[in-house]
Amino acid sequence: MERILVIGANGQIGSELVEALATQYGEGNIIAADISPRSLYGAKVYEVIDVLDPVRLAAVVQHYKITQVYQLAALLSATGEQAPLKAWTLNMDGLLNILELARLRGEAGKPLKIFWPSSIAAFGPNTPAQNTPQFTVMDPTTIYGISKLAGERLCEYYFQKYGVDVRSIRYPGIISYKSPPGGGTTDYAIAIFHAALRGESYSCFLKAETTLPMIYMPDAIRATIALMATPAAQLSIRSSYNVAGLSFNPRELAQAIAQKLPEFSIHYAPDSRQEIAASWPQSLDDTVARKDWNWKAEIDLQQLVKDMLKNVQVDKTEVATLNAAA
Ligand SMILES: NC(=O)c1ccc[n+]([C@@H]2O[C@H](COP(=O)([O-])OP(=O)(O)OC[C@H]3O[C@@H](n4cnc5c(N)ncnc54)[C@H](O)[C@@H]3O)[C@@H](O)[C@H]2O)c1
Repeated sequence: MERILVIGANGQIGSELVEALATQYGEGNIIAADISPRSLYGAKVYEVIDVLDPVRLAAVVQHYKITQVYQLAALLSATGEQAPLKAWTLNMDGLLNILELARLRGEAGKPLKIFWPSSIAAFGPNTPAQNTPQFTVMDPTTIYGISKLAGERLCEYYFQKYGVDVRSIRYPGIISYKSPPGGGTTDYAIAIFHAALRGESYSCFLKAETTLPMIYMPDAIRATIALMATPAAQLSIRSSYNVAGLSFNPRELAQAIAQKLPEFSIHYAPDSRQEIAASWPQSLDDTVARKDWNWKAEIDLQQLVKDMLKNVQVDKTEVATLNAAA
């Protein structure tokens, strides 16, 4: 029986992952954890954990006889630029604490399977931007991207040296409506829906032609759970898999929204996030993920726009909050 700990469970991805895992493995087998004192999304079992506290982490894993850990706690790209040392400490030490715990438990005959997400931010300005290959130049320019690239190397190191069963995806920008995004460069693609549904013109912090790889949350969750369920012998990548969803730029997204809401308008006021976005790929080659664990994205731009317009709750979050860099 799987007993699964999700750290960062109150975040954009964690909140939806906990729900999906609960459906698959049973509510009582999913332990949601976050640094904040309460579960924001009503998890049945909730623990307060600071991922930077290895003693507490080990105690919770021992207490619940955890078999899998999803380590999602991190500072994201835009937020990380405002507090680089904090981002480095959280992103690196958080991952190291989990990998060390997995190593020690593995040596004690109690293996832990780990999921840790990397990002398209691990690439940089000298990476081929179109159809970015699995193996290529990686020269990230943000502290977040540097922490993701270093994290990928650590994952592969712990697998090669200690046999830790760690798995990872280089998530594209994730679009969702259930919980607010955590301060990434792709957050415009969520804020824009809130502005559109409020009947407001949207002030976009990226330029109109800034194409980026994106993925709709249901595809991202499906990819994550599928990767974790794949037999270890099938996996050829222990750093992090390229996974493609769809690619579009702000102008294309705005046009797709205007097809449903003809009054909608957008204007452009690029800020520091434009420079970050310009250093990232525009589309990803995910051939290896397709071959190793049958990955294939299902949701296209039309479906995404239709679903977001149906489900975004405009009364919950201000556009200015979503649009802010932190
Ligand atoms: N959302 C995206 O578009 C995206 C894209 C690529 C990669 N990722 C990666 O996926 C992961 C989750 O991203 P997200 O968008 O859900 O982030 P988020 O910011 O929405 O959520 C992160 C959660 O971690 C919690 N947290 C912060 N510090 C903690 C600590 N010390 N201990 C325990 N919990 C702590 C926060 O309270 C928050 O609930 C991150 O590693 C991120 O880098 C996200």
